[in-house]
Amino acid sequence: MTIKPLIILPDPLLRQISAPIERVDDEVRRMADDMLETMYDAPGIGLAAIQIGLPRRMLVIDIAKEGDEKAPQVFINPEILTSTDERSVYEEGCLSIPDYYAEVERPAGISVRYLDRDGRPQEIAADGLLATCLQHEIDHLNGVLFIDHISKLKREMVVRKFTKAAKTRGSKAI
Ligand code: NI
Repeated sequence: MTIKPLIILPDPLLRQISAPIERVDDEVRRMADDMLETMYDAPGIGLAAIQIGLPRRMLVIDIAKEGDEKAPQVFINPEILTSTDERSVYEEGCLSIPDYYAEVERPAGISVRYLDRDGRPQEIAADGLLATCLQHEIDHLNGVLFIDHISKLKREMVVRKFTKAAKTRGSKAI
C-alpha cells in the first residue's frame, strides 16, 4: 500500500468527471488500498479516487470513531437511488481543501447502489454522517466540491485563497 499525494484546490482535475470502473480486479483493489492508506494518513474519513489523481468512480470511507477498530468501506460505481426530503446540516471539510470547514445542507438519508471490492452489487440505506460523507464523495466523482453548496461569496473567497497559495508554492495553478 502506498500513500499518494493529494490533489489540492484549485487543481482542475478536481472538476473532472470520473469514469466508471468496468472490471473490479486486483489493480482496482490495489487502488482502493492506496486510497485507504492515503485517507488514514491524512487523516480523513472519506476519499474519492480523483483526489489522488485517478478519474475513476471509486471512493473509500471510514467513519469509525477515533479509538474504535477501523471500518474501511469501498464503494465502486456508486449511484444514489433515493434521497429523503428531510435534510440535515453538517460542518464539512475536504482533504483537497485543507483547513477549511463550512456547514452544508444535504438530504438526511439516501440509498446507494454500488459494487464492493469483490465486484458484487450491493445496496445500502444510509443516514447521519455516512449519508453526508457518501454524498460528499459521490459529488467528487462528478467534479463537484462541497464549496459548491455554500454561498458564492464564501466560495470565491476560498478559491482565491487557495489559488494564491498554489502560486506561492509554484505549483500548477489555474
Ligand atoms: Ni472531499
